[in-house]
Amino acid sequence: MPLLELNGIGKSFGGLPAVDRVTLGADEGEILAVVGPNGAGKSTLLSLIIGLQAPTRGTIHLNGDEVTGLSTHRMRKLGVAMVQQTPRPFPTMTVLENAAVGAMFGLAEGGHDEAGALRIGTEMLSLVGLDNRRHDHVGNLNLHEQRFLELARALSGRPRLLLLDEVMAGLNDSELQSSIEMVRTIRDELGVTVVWVEHVMQAVVNLAERIVVLDFGQVLAEGQPATVMRDQAVIEAYLGAGGAVDA
Ligand SMILES: Nc1ncnc2c1ncn2[C@@H]1O[C@H](COP(=O)(O)OP(=O)(O)OP(=O)(O)O)[C@@H](O)[C@H]1O
Ligand SMILES: [Mg+2]
Repeated sequence: MPLLELNGIGKSFGGLPAVDRVTLGADEGEILAVVGPNGAGKSTLLSLIIGLQAPTRGTIHLNGDEVTGLSTHRMRKLGVAMVQQTPRPFPTMTVLENAAVGAMFGLAEGGHDEAGALRIGTEMLSLVGLDNRRHDHVGNLNLHEQRFLELARALSGRPRLLLLDEVMAGLNDSELQSSIEMVRTIRDELGVTVVWVEHVMQAVVNLAERIVVLDFGQVLAEGQPATVMRDQAVIEAYLGAGGAVDA
């Protein structure tokens, strides 16, 4: 049984489908990449999974239980965490306090006390390479660092399923390499299943076991990275959107 199952899931805005009857599954321990041109519906798909928005049609199952339309709060308690495309850290808190928040709230077992949360937050900051910034004010982090802080916060909640929305956009080559390793570690050592929206094809091809390509809200192709990236319809979707597939 897949950990996550979407069945004919859809979301429309003003009658226009942003996500259009998407059916897909993610197995426990898998890294599943979701790619597609701007506006393809990738972020909307993740927001439906974690309950930031309710689907207009279809069902979502987690570990066999139906979770369609549950709130984000409930989904966190069920072990789902998300790093959104635009970071929204708590501006008055330090880096460590931001990371620790994930361990205090939203855990299935009811959350840690402050000392425990700070310990887990420190561990997760170390995993994302921000441990030397833990006493900094969060406003001193650049956009990339804020994204990795959000990742640390998500991981502090000990998720089973982690949804990542373009955390690698704009990184240079060495940052990219280390963040690819980071996601691998999250899966291999923390045992987290990852559904990962990404534009950076180099990262996707290096890391994902499977790719789903969305275009106009629909699944255009699905399969192993090397195969999917050679698919003519996929190439056209990218070229049509003004970007080549340069993996
Ligand atoms: N809250 C909203 N209200 C109205 N339209 C929306 C809303 N959210 C998304 N859309 C529309 O839904 C479509 C899919 O948007 P979405 O943000 O999911 O795409 P995306 O694949 O994540 O794009 P990008 O690669 O640019 O992040 C777009 O046409 C977008 O304008
Ligand atoms: Mg998006």
